[in-house]
Amino acid sequence: MDKIYLIGLPGSGKSHTGSWLAKKLGWDFVDLDEQIENSENQTISELFKQLGEDGFRKLEQTALKRTFAYKQCVVSCGGGTPVWDNNMEMMGRHGLTVYLNTELQEIIRRLEAGNVNRPLISDSIPLAVQIAELNEKRRPIYSRAKVVWNKNEPTEHFFRSLDRLLTIY
Ligand code: S3P
Repeated sequence: MDKIYLIGLPGSGKSHTGSWLAKKLGWDFVDLDEQIENSENQTISELFKQLGEDGFRKLEQTALKRTFAYKQCVVSCGGGTPVWDNNMEMMGRHGLTVYLNTELQEIIRRLEAGNVNRPLISDSIPLAVQIAELNEKRRPIYSRAKVVWNKNEPTEHFFRSLDRLLTIY
């Protein structure tokens, strides 16, 4: 297998872990949101506003399918990528799916500290409530990943386990 798909809630650390992992493997790092923004020349927020969630998910799936042809890369998915259509199943066929099961408290802390505009997160509902709801909905799908990482940060052990698994799958 020559691809890893990192999945998890917004703030779970997909981009940070993805670029760290890619460097250690000597692979490319691909951020799906960034690819969409570059190919459409608009921000994720603008695309949500303009196309609605369904329209955005179609673009996201097109970007995801593009990665299937890539070699040796770690892909950081958007938080909603795995829950749309058959994306999770397709990722599983093309790469090793890895769920970053970061603690919700830590996710909330990161989202509060960061200044990133996330269109699905509203200002009028407490963040902890929104994250708990997203988690409830998405957890069953995220949990279908081949690997579930239950710590808030990647470690050397995480890297070595994935490296070994890549030779098996
Ligand atoms: C989304 C998460 C975002 C981005 C979009 C939708 C989601 O990515 O794709 O705003 O549905 O959870 P991050 O998980 O990188 O924040």
